[in-house]
Amino acid sequence: MKEDKNLDVFPDQFFWGASTASHQVEGGNANQWSAWELEYAKELAQTAHTRLSYLPNWNDIKQQAQDPDNYVSGKGIEHYRRFEEDFELLDQLNMNSFRFGVEWSRLEPEEGKWNSEAFAHYKRYIAQLRKRGIEPFLNIWHWTVPVWFAEKGGFEKRANLIYFDRFVQKLTEELLEDVTYVITLNEPNVYASFSYLTGEWPPQKKNPIMFMKVYWNLTRAHRRAYRILKKAKPSLQIGLAAQLANMQAKRPHSVLDGVSTKWMRYFWNWWFLNRVRRYQDFVGFNYYFTDYFTGLMKRSNPDVPVSDLGWYMEPEGLYPILLRLWSHYKKPIFVTENGVADKDDQYRRWWIEETIVAMERAISEGVDIRGYFYWSLLDNFEWKYGWWPKFGLVAVDREHDMKRTIRPSAKWFAEKIKNIS
Ligand code: BGC
Repeated sequence: MKEDKNLDVFPDQFFWGASTASHQVEGGNANQWSAWELEYAKELAQTAHTRLSYLPNWNDIKQQAQDPDNYVSGKGIEHYRRFEEDFELLDQLNMNSFRFGVEWSRLEPEEGKWNSEAFAHYKRYIAQLRKRGIEPFLNIWHWTVPVWFAEKGGFEKRANLIYFDRFVQKLTEELLEDVTYVITLNEPNVYASFSYLTGEWPPQKKNPIMFMKVYWNLTRAHRRAYRILKKAKPSLQIGLAAQLANMQAKRPHSVLDGVSTKWMRYFWNWWFLNRVRRYQDFVGFNYYFTDYFTGLMKRSNPDVPVSDLGWYMEPEGLYPILLRLWSHYKKPIFVTENGVADKDDQYRRWWIEETIVAMERAISEGVDIRGYFYWSLLDNFEWKYGWWPKFGLVAVDREHDMKRTIRPSAKWFAEKIKNIS
């Protein structure tokens, strides 16, 4: 029985869940990212002031941001070891689904050599989710790759896609028996941009040609993975976790603002999805940003409200994306990530509430939304920023045995979910 009238529009089988990514939570990973962390931690700490002192809460974070340890994923939050405890949290939060990653560098630590223990681990992992009645959403690639693959040039070379194909094939043989939903790639646009255009992430290249090559190759990687997966198990439901932003013209009457906004929308939101439109059973996307553009693609957002990362927050910006996605692709939609960095938990409840309203509106207007995954279940390793941004519904105290504590906003969200089912 739905107790909350406002939530009436959500289908009974709606998936309410949270997301994680292997490298950000597991601990003990050895891949191209962890190698880069060890090499660049000191430099990131030394340049923290220049890069981050504009943030409103710089005083609160500066000690951590200037400490090289902040930039090392290291033990993670020991999710690899403590996953059952974390699944218990999903139960407490009334969630019926969970998005997680499998770590390629664990499963194939050396080229062509499979690690049977790691496969056994993820089998147990999936079985435990199933036992609790939680639908697993398995994510194949979330930016990290084995060192041997990076050394061959990673996704820069089309010829290297055979290694990704082989990995996907192996997953179909070992891990997908009890899985229905598979996400192939997480945010190819973000990865290609930060790793190959702005040079902020490994392998820190600033090369527009290389950027386009990687971006193209990732469209191919997805299409090939889709075919391999479908051939092995036609009932799989396959999609991406695309990064989509709600982009708007700052001055709607200005031709320049209008054109540059449309160009950004096309390139950031639609370019990749258009290329894989026939190779997805659902459209999955992550939403964090509403951006206003002016002049020649210059971002010009309101000063407030901003998250701990300084990101302008407009949760209801999800709505126009949902409508556009539906009209472009007419496929079931999953919000595969959505959330805020909010250490003091002052915005999270508001963010989730407005997000639910945005989904409600879209569903009432006929958009087929099937699930919503908050980012993230737990505080985790936030890539180049390290440990200080807190995205978790559940706080993790890395100083005190990684103690998990459910945040007040998450308790509120759990109640909301309960009223729906
Ligand atoms: C990524 C996550 C990341 C989150 C917050 C998304 O773009 O998929 O890995 O932690 O944003 O930055």
